Amino acid sequence: MNATPRENGPAGSRYGEAVFRPEQEGEGERIDFGALTYDDITMARLRALGVGPGWHCLDVGAGTGTVSRRLLDEAGVASVLAVDRDVRFLSARPVPGLDMLEADITAADFAPGRFQLVHARFVLMHLSEHDRLITALAELVAPGGVLVLSDAVDLTSDRTPDTPYTTMMRAMW
Ligand SMILES: C[S@@+](CC[C@H](N)C(=O)[O-])C[C@H]1O[C@@H](n2cnc3c(N)ncnc32)[C@H](O)[C@@H]1O
Repeated sequence: MNATPRENGPAGSRYGEAVFRPEQEGEGERIDFGALTYDDITMARLRALGVGPGWHCLDVGAGTGTVSRRLLDEAGVASVLAVDRDVRFLSARPVPGLDMLEADITAADFAPGRFQLVHARFVLMHLSEHDRLITALAELVAPGGVLVLSDAVDLTSDRTPDTPYTTMMRAMW
């Protein structure tokens, strides 16, 4: 398995600059398609960890907010603070109980409070300071709460045959 940590993007650019620009046509749909694929798995994992009524949750790099809204609608949590460096997709679909914060989670002063659930999916894989960010996010977890991080890994290697799948994976990374 080749699970090499990735930098922010081509030539050291930050997420959303060279690729995945929020204003690029179809970017919201791109995030939604990933969400459609993984949301059921994510929700099952979160429910298995006990996430439910009364929980105050932080969804880091919330994207279009599919997990944030399902936490409220299906798991019945008390509140979700959805944080993203660009909240235009989140603000397009407001729901009661969903608060939004436009912020850069890599900022040294990022400290939105403490939460029983701190969740980040497909976010840290795009950022270079994994260890520092994991520590910083762990400090936002209230006593007895959980930190749930999920990311993709590159399962290809130099010896993997060329297939449409490997071409797509290499292009993505
Ligand atoms: C691939 S999307 C994942 C969205 C959502 N978590 C999901 O799984 O559907 C990555 C998200 O992280 C956000 N993001 C990237 N870098 C960030 C940063 N430094 N601070 C806050 N949000 C960031 C992006 O704007 C984008 O919405």
